[in-house]
Parts: sequence; C-alpha cells; structure tokens
Amino acid sequence: MNSIPPLDLARQYRTIALEVEAAVLEVLSSGRYIGGSQVQAFECQFADYIGTTECVSCHSGTDALYLALRSLEIGPGDEVITTALSFFATAETISMVGATPVFVDIDAATFNCDVDRLEAAITPRTKAILPVHLFGQPVDMTRLMEVANAHRLAVVEDCAQAAGAEWNGKKVGSFGRIGCFSFFPTKNLGAFGDGGAITTDDREIADRIRVLKDHGATRRYYHEFQGTNSRLDALQAAILQVKLPYLDGWNARRRDLAARYRDLLAPIPHIVLPQDSTGGGHVWNQYTIRIESDRDRLYQQLQQSGIGCNIYYPFPLHLQPAYRDLGYAVGQLPIAERACQQVLSLPMFPELDVEEQYQVVRALKDCR
Ligand SMILES: Cc1ncc(COP(=O)(O)O)c(C=O)c1O
Repeated sequence: MNSIPPLDLARQYRTIALEVEAAVLEVLSSGRYIGGSQVQAFECQFADYIGTTECVSCHSGTDALYLALRSLEIGPGDEVITTALSFFATAETISMVGATPVFVDIDAATFNCDVDRLEAAITPRTKAILPVHLFGQPVDMTRLMEVANAHRLAVVEDCAQAAGAEWNGKKVGSFGRIGCFSFFPTKNLGAFGDGGAITTDDREIADRIRVLKDHGATRRYYHEFQGTNSRLDALQAAILQVKLPYLDGWNARRRDLAARYRDLLAPIPHIVLPQDSTGGGHVWNQYTIRIESDRDRLYQQLQQSGIGCNIYYPFPLHLQPAYRDLGYAVGQLPIAERACQQVLSLPMFPELDVEEQYQVVRALKDCR
C-alpha cells in the first residue's frame, strides 16, 4: 500500500507548472527582483480578494504580526490577549514588540479562542486582541468585534492558516484593524518560499507599515525610526499572482474532503470530529480530529502504516518553556491543555484523492 503524506506540494505544482514557470521566467528576465510591478500587482490583487483597501506584503507571517503590532505602537507595559492554542509566532511577536501576551482558553468545539472568556482577560493595560483563525476555522468575529469595540481595543487577526476563510460571508483579515497572512508553502495560499502580508482599510496604518518594513526610512537613507527589512520577493509575488485565482477552488476542494472525512469517520468510536461552526466559511488548512484516549499510540501506529499525520500542537502557548516567566500553571487553561493531548491532524490538501481518504480511514479503524 502506498504511503500518504500529510500534504504534497509537488502535486499542486504539477497542476499549474506551465503558468508558474512562465511567471518565474518573466521575473528572471526582467532584472527586477526586489519590489517593482510584480509586488505591487500582487498587493492590489490580494487587497481586492480580501476586501480591504490596502495590502502591504512582507517577508513572512511572523513579520506581518510583528509589523502590525509595531504599527499600533504596542510595546513594553502593554498586554495583548490571544489564544492558548496556536503556532508559537502568534505569541512570540507580541513579546518581540516588548508587550505581554495574555492567553485565554479555547472553545473545545472550534479550537479557537473562546470569545466569551475575552472580557475577563481585559485589564487597564490591554491594548489589543489577537485572534487566530486556527486550522482555517474563522473565529466568531461578530462577538469578538463587539467585545473589542466595547473596550476600544484594536484587533489584529492572525489569518496565517485561513486565507479565503469567511465569517458570515466576509473574508477574515477584513474585520480587525489589521489582518496578518502567511504564504509559507503549507498554507492554503502558499508561495515557493517565505512570504506574508497585512491587510487593512486604514491607509495610515498601511503607510506606517510600509516605512517600518523598510528600516523605518521615510525617504532614502533617512530613518525616522528603527524598523526592519521585510520584503516579499518579486519571484514569490509573481507565483502568488498565478496561485490566487485558484484559491477558492482549492478551498472548495478542501471542504469536499472535510465533508467526506466527516461521513467516513463518524461511525468510528473514540474519535471526535472537528466542527464547522460557520456554515461553510472554514477553509480546512488542517483536518484535526480528537482521539480521546492514547492519542500518541494511535499517532505512532498511523505513522507505521504510512499515514502522514501531525500534532498541532503538542503544547499550549502558556506552558511553553519560553513563557515560564509569565507564571502560568498546568491546569490553568484546561481546554487548550486537553486539546494538546488529543489533537491529530489527518492528511489534508486539495489534491488528496478519494481512494487515499479511504486508506486513511481504514488505517484509523485498524488501529483500534
Ligand atoms: C497561526 C500562525 N501564525 C503565524 C505563523 C507564522 O507565519 P510564517 O511561518 O510565515 O512566519 C504561522 C505559520 O505557521 C501560523 O500558523
């Protein structure tokens, strides 16, 4: 039996190879490798897609978060409320600007931060809320924006895993002051290297980020403040322009795969299926189930049968050694902690075929 990878980027490349190669060759022969028309064109295309007036590209999703927080002048003494379950960069960037992350527990059904717990985490030092649309599942942005607006807090959305996801028909990345995207190759819209972007309707914020990502320079060799170097390469911008028109189709395919997983896995005991609480707005960057007991043994067995699966994430953010100093205790955010012991992400990418899905499900059944 063939092994099945958790995702297979080369398969997707083969479906668009001619277009990508033409775009890459055009950049190579243009002699313009940094900035220029490719980057500008992608920024316009992406703002249009997300439904914001501005998009500023940058080097990565991590940089997008860092630049967003810097542009809001969040720094030492400030607190930013975020979820306890995410990739480390979500919290790390809060620390990078000198602020303190305040972690809230998750909603067991969606894996996203529990919006009903946000209010209790607000203090006079809170400056922003940083929700993460984890695994492609949009956070309840109606409720979250109500809380943020009532307390005059900025919202920075971490959309790294959720390009194209929608809440009530509106794209994530267009709700908060700033949306932050990653184009890391494994994302729903992935470059062939690193890449990131911020989206916003606030021209002033966008302009500040344009300066920040260019070493704080307001004109050539004149640095108004300390910034950084964060660029999307022209090559990546050209590739992303080719890929963006395919994104909705790829996301629709992920939804079909998720629906089939749901039908096939429902009869298997001890597996808790992920919930799509948003009526179709989920874009399934990951299909993450819960194994209620002995997840690690099942994970090993699946690996041995050639089924590529992953654990996102084995540790919640508040218990990461890097955040030891914040003083969180085991048991403090129990829903996120339990999720870390139970989650298992199955193979999920638009080119996964039906037969492979059957194989994944058979392997899961055989494990029991
Ligand atoms: C939720 C989340 N935030 C931020 C990032 C950081 O993005 P990048 O890897 O492009 O820096 C990632 C990447 O994995 C992510 O999953």
